[in-house]
Amino acid sequence: MSFSLESIGIKAGGRYETIYTTMNKAGEMDAAPIGLKYIGDYDVAARIFEGSKTLKNIQETGIFVVNITNDPSVFARSLYDNLKEEEFVKDDDIVYLKNADAYFIALVKSIEEMKPEHDHVNEGAKNYIIKAEPLKIIINRQGAKALNRGLFAFLESLVDYTRVDIIDDEKKEEYKKRFIENERVIQRVAEDDVKENMAILKEKMIEKGLDLE
Ligand SMILES: Cc1cc2nc3c(=O)[nH]c(=O)nc-3n(C[C@H](O)[C@H](O)[C@H](O)COP(=O)(O)O)c2cc1C
Repeated sequence: MSFSLESIGIKAGGRYETIYTTMNKAGEMDAAPIGLKYIGDYDVAARIFEGSKTLKNIQETGIFVVNITNDPSVFARSLYDNLKEEEFVKDDDIVYLKNADAYFIALVKSIEEMKPEHDHVNEGAKNYIIKAEPLKIIINRQGAKALNRGLFAFLESLVDYTRVDIIDDEKKEEYKKRFIENERVIQRVAEDDVKENMAILKEKMIEKGLDLE
């Protein structure tokens, strides 16, 4: 691989929110928001639940494109329905988003069916771990950076920190629940520096009397 995923803000261990573009064998194009993890050795991984077109297309073709964007409308519209045909660009066996800040082609190395997982939202749906090798990266906008929810969760908690002195006990319970949820998200998706800063913030919240011990 002749490029570094760090050039688009993707670091080992973090999970990023991206738009995957795929095609089925008939050439029908699809876009969907899907998470991405950089697992080292230049490889990326996705966990995709059964039932999505993205999973079916990847199983059929063994290739997908990861698009980097921070356009909320693209995340929403690709989830509710599909993007408009003119928002895609087809190039041989791949398809990508015309307005992506950056994108890279990912060639599938393995697809492994996982045991249904029981987590905080899931009753145990079948899901697959897809490992892939990034082949080629195109940067359309300097400074393109993959979104990481961890930073946003941290900022939410930081804002709460500025208000924790002036709220009543009922609100404190609310803040506590929110902190615990933000902490959970951060443990799951954030980069190391955000995790470290969240740990410091937790101590500061405790010092201010939020019952997080
Ligand atoms: C920000 C975001 C991240 C998502 N990440 C994943 C993911 O990692 N794996 C997954 O199976 N679904 C994920 N989803 C849900 C899929 O986008 C959703 O199931 C979608 O309808 C699949 O569309 P498709 O049928 O066109 O592939 C995510 C949704 C959002 C909004």
